Amino acid sequence: MCGIFAAVSNEFVTSTLVGGLSSLSYRGYDSSGIVIVNENGLQRRRAEGKLQALSTLLAQNPVEGYIGIAHTRWATHGEPSERNAHPHMTDRVAVVHNGIIENYPDLKASLERDGYHFESDTDSETIPLLISRNLDKGMSPETALREAVSQLDGSYAIAAVFADEPQTIYAARYGSPLVIGQGAAGHFISSDSIALSRVARNLCYLDDNEIARITVNEIGITNAGGCTVSKELKPLIISQQDQGKQGYKHFMLKEIHQQPEVMRNTLNHYCDAATFTLKSEAFPANLSHFERLSIVACGTSYYAGMVARQWFERYACIPVDVDIASEYRYRESPFSPNTLALFISQSGETADSLAALRYSKEQGLTCLSLLNVESSSMAQESDAFLRTLAGAEIGVASTKAFTGQLLVLLLMSLQMGKASGRLDERAERELIQHLYTLPVEMAKVIDEMASIDKVAESLVHSEHTMYLGRGMSFPLALEGALKLKEISYIHAEAYPAGELKHGPIALIDNKMPVVMIAPPGPMMGKTLSNLREVSSRGAQVILISNGSGIEMARQHITQAIEVPETDALLQPLLYTLPLQLLAYHVACLKGTDVDQPRNLAKSVTVE
Ligand code: AGP
Repeated sequence: MCGIFAAVSNEFVTSTLVGGLSSLSYRGYDSSGIVIVNENGLQRRRAEGKLQALSTLLAQNPVEGYIGIAHTRWATHGEPSERNAHPHMTDRVAVVHNGIIENYPDLKASLERDGYHFESDTDSETIPLLISRNLDKGMSPETALREAVSQLDGSYAIAAVFADEPQTIYAARYGSPLVIGQGAAGHFISSDSIALSRVARNLCYLDDNEIARITVNEIGITNAGGCTVSKELKPLIISQQDQGKQGYKHFMLKEIHQQPEVMRNTLNHYCDAATFTLKSEAFPANLSHFERLSIVACGTSYYAGMVARQWFERYACIPVDVDIASEYRYRESPFSPNTLALFISQSGETADSLAALRYSKEQGLTCLSLLNVESSSMAQESDAFLRTLAGAEIGVASTKAFTGQLLVLLLMSLQMGKASGRLDERAERELIQHLYTLPVEMAKVIDEMASIDKVAESLVHSEHTMYLGRGMSFPLALEGALKLKEISYIHAEAYPAGELKHGPIALIDNKMPVVMIAPPGPMMGKTLSNLREVSSRGAQVILISNGSGIEMARQHITQAIEVPETDALLQPLLYTLPLQLLAYHVACLKGTDVDQPRNLAKSVTVE
């Protein structure tokens, strides 16, 4: 969950470290800190709150040097506070850590018995204390680190600096990402590659159980047994689009606007634009052999799975289960051997999804993942993975990754239908041809939503909201409600519209705005009946529909968001856009921190 950045350079590193943390802030932002090694030894600065607090502290109490480590935190063990902020240190070693040390109570007890004192409530502080105990036994810094990590259960990405070896940074990983960058001025370590783009030209990823010894001129990598591992440095390629906010007020808004491009890139990756056919080679070969599909994910990725269930049932004719990862692994449901387990994750690091993947592997299932980060742990541990081509998603609220997931899942369902002979060539061509209109249709919807801020004004003072939809619009309602909750902090519930009268209708009165998602199609009539049920009980209804849907419901709605007429296949992708923009504008009107909402982090690496 946290972000790590480190630098050993020919130039002063403090501002580079803070710049690195700024790029990594999406990973956690409740406190931050740095340690610089200079002629005065290990010099630490830490501050509670967002990175600005650390910058202010550094302006008041500057520190400089050519080598240092830095960290931005999302609290797991111990409240957000300066005392619990990283780096944790003794007078001999300072450490930043991302991950969870599961056996820390035992390790802590053993360290305390030996007279080592904890200053924080964190599991992470175990690491510098273990290393210090090893140093005190006479071990070299590298051996002390190697011995210490061999005692850790759980996951870790670590960067460490030593008072006795002031020109070297050590890094180690197991289960949490770490990438090493090489630049003109020196070497850098980061939790992701984008944060390296300002300083590095080449990079390599550290693999599990490896330890790196990094100086300004050299990177030496060894495995758990101490044997040298040779790694090729590859050019660091970060698209211009992925860097900065590109003139948008927030990353979230930029990412909403990037969706047409994401659709285009996805289509070109998985389809042949000349023939309007699927590129079968872009999918795993044996998809048609499976008799059941089990989709597992968390949050927005889970809702993508819920939407996609209907595509898999329709086009591939395969029964589908969709599970929340944190529930699935404890459910002990019987598996049929011909089940394909499909894990969906933007980050590829979500602890519950990763644990569910490991559990499925233990049960002997074939595990396929749909991921946005190719270097992630889930990519490494899956039997195969498919890529969403969303590019870096920095806003904590997922937007382009969701629509990217939807499109790949739709294409995968078509590929499964094709491979099993259920989808003929003509149908394939027609469907893909429709999908190629998606980038233009999406751009049109986003452009025509300029007036959505008026609708947002009507929600901004609400304490509660209800989102309703039927069929695929139900998971969209869940996603719309999640977006509103996480960035505007307004309580939002979502229900299948038909379920309303079985309980939730008791909540309806004139203080409960209802967002009704009613695209044209066989469900529309029934959804509009549900709309009348809530409006006659006083609810202020915001209807998201096409022109004729809005016309039909005119007397019963307070406001409407019109989505242009579109092919039914594109509806879930297009109807997502007003939901994202509505939440965004409500949050802006409320003045919340859109990209870094309270209590959240982008990549949830704790269970
Ligand atoms: C979405 O807006 C959320 N921030 C969150 O629900 C997210 O989708 C969830 O944590 C899963 O993350 P993943 O896709 O990286 O696995």
